[in-house]
Amino acid sequence: MRIISVKDYQEMSRAAASLIAAQVLGKPDSVLGLATGSSPIGAYQKLIEWHKAGALDFSACSTANLDEYVGLTKDNDQSYAYFMRQNLFDHINIPAERLNIPDGTNPNAAAECARYDKVIEELGGIDLQLLGIGRNGHIGFNEPADVFVRGTNCVQLTESTIDANKRFFAREEDVPRQAYTMGIGAIMLARKVVMVASGEDKADAIRATVQGDITPYVPASILQLHRDFVLVADEAALSKLDK
Ligand code: GLP
Repeated sequence: MRIISVKDYQEMSRAAASLIAAQVLGKPDSVLGLATGSSPIGAYQKLIEWHKAGALDFSACSTANLDEYVGLTKDNDQSYAYFMRQNLFDHINIPAERLNIPDGTNPNAAAECARYDKVIEELGGIDLQLLGIGRNGHIGFNEPADVFVRGTNCVQLTESTIDANKRFFAREEDVPRQAYTMGIGAIMLARKVVMVASGEDKADAIRATVQGDITPYVPASILQLHRDFVLVADEAALSKLDK
């Protein structure tokens, strides 16, 4: 594990974007595993800026997003498909047919999870997986559980996650209770994993991820076993680590 310690959100975003840019420059047909949430938005803005300046070409890339709410259509402004268009895809040049995200409108969970696993397999796995982290240590929407789930799965969101994500919805009742998420297997098989974390409310999760026991009750803790895991975090997010 490598920890890149930065001052604040802005520096975190620039450092994470630099890692992604290096990946794309080194391998133009990279498969990028992408994340939603407020943590990666700044990195996406940097990538857009560099693309618009002519420094980054994504035309040969493919993407696989981590997760999607069950029941939301791609046009719902709270769906992760919509988020990705707004925050990245509409502003760079990855061909639409190579953008992959679980389909929240498929009511058949088993079929959708199997389809998405096949998508990832056919892409040849993920070159660089970008991750945020939930306050309870979740990655993607892999919530704390008795076991690490390998494949794409349909999860019941925890109260902690519903509470954290309600700020994006008009009412708490509107927050979907289920999501499809890429499993821990695909994340661990990604050739490089970059996690971004900013702010004090992530400090406990970061401590448990980096220095705690490896346990499915803190899904991100398994990243201690990943051979190329880079954590880009600011001082506040790192503030609870033992020196
Ligand atoms: C959601 C997403 C995660 C994200 C987490 C934290 O639960 N499914 O992928 O990491 O939120 O979001 P934020 O970065 O806004 O704190």
